[in-house]
Amino acid sequence: MTDPIITPRAAVAALPSYAAGKPPSPADGLTPYKLSSNENPLGPVPAAAEAAAAVTTLHRYPNPAGEALRAALADHLDVPYEDIVTGTGSLGALTQIIQAFAGTSADGSADEVIYPWRSFEAYPIVVRVAGAKDVQIPVGPDGRHDLQAMAAAITERTKVILMCTPNNPTGPALTHTEVTQFLRAVPPHVVVVIDEAYQEFVRSEDPVDTLSLYSSHPNVAVLRTFSKAHGLAALRVGYSIAQQSITEHLRKTAVPFGVSTVGEAAAIASLKHHDEVDRRVAQIVEERQRVAEGLADAGWQIPETQANFVWLPLGEQAVDFAHAAGVQALAVRAFAGEGVRVTIGEPEANDRFLQLCRTYSGRP
Ligand SMILES: Cc1ncc(COP(=O)(O)O)c(C=O)c1O
Repeated sequence: MTDPIITPRAAVAALPSYAAGKPPSPADGLTPYKLSSNENPLGPVPAAAEAAAAVTTLHRYPNPAGEALRAALADHLDVPYEDIVTGTGSLGALTQIIQAFAGTSADGSADEVIYPWRSFEAYPIVVRVAGAKDVQIPVGPDGRHDLQAMAAAITERTKVILMCTPNNPTGPALTHTEVTQFLRAVPPHVVVVIDEAYQEFVRSEDPVDTLSLYSSHPNVAVLRTFSKAHGLAALRVGYSIAQQSITEHLRKTAVPFGVSTVGEAAAIASLKHHDEVDRRVAQIVEERQRVAEGLADAGWQIPETQANFVWLPLGEQAVDFAHAAGVQALAVRAFAGEGVRVTIGEPEANDRFLQLCRTYSGRP
């Protein structure tokens, strides 16, 4: 008897695996730093860590609809409670949206999901697992979405469009003016997801006011997370904000109990201490400014970053640079043949990164 051949669905067989940022390797006399996953080097506010540690109901399931967190968010953001759907990280919230709106149509053909590329590397995975076809629109040399090309790519099969602002891994943020204009080109039945995982770090002149956009557009969903500014990546808490035209379907695709009691408690405490979160974000933005200026002084030309990372468009040198960083006990994220994303970290990590950039011989 031959062994049974176990094969996944064709879409899954063809998928790339998600490559998470690696931890740093130790090097003699150097403190190792992880600059590969856009984490918050300052961690959560103490009250959030205390709230997580104080949870005593570990034997009970969490509230299935994240009601307390949604109430706290509704209050904090001044949006209706019903418009918020929580998820296991914003990636969980995105998965709910894709599964609700894109997959295989009744005639067997794949729905289309348009997104910029390179962008967040989970997008192709989430889209293809759902059975939908992804339509990747290259970002420009400045790392910005090509909104004209994204609008031109809309067909009758398009079900969802993803926008990522600031864009991971290239860094630039969209402006309110350009998103408003883009939305005019999108048919009202196409869902537009605006992924704002790094929203708190934006300091641009015309930031996208996603809360006003979603309230005037029944087809817009906003994605946010506690993983970045709030420093709670380990607890996996994210959410979407959208009108009922979208949320009523997400409540069906959401994995039940997707946010743990521990995560919910920490997130609520973090919202209560938002002034402290803001101060930490301000420190990271200051460090970002210092790193960006240091890179410019050293002759590097990089896309303008509005997030907690910088993008080095190193092309074929990307892997070599990541190796050189590794020798300095810095873990960075290389995208072979394209570039390297480096998270703004602790001041010492940033100093070491800048020093490497000053001396690296393979700069384009
Ligand atoms: C653009 C973007 N969206 C979403 C996520 C997912 O974050 P989480 O699931 O931790 O909320 C990330 C994480 O790096 C990201 O960069």
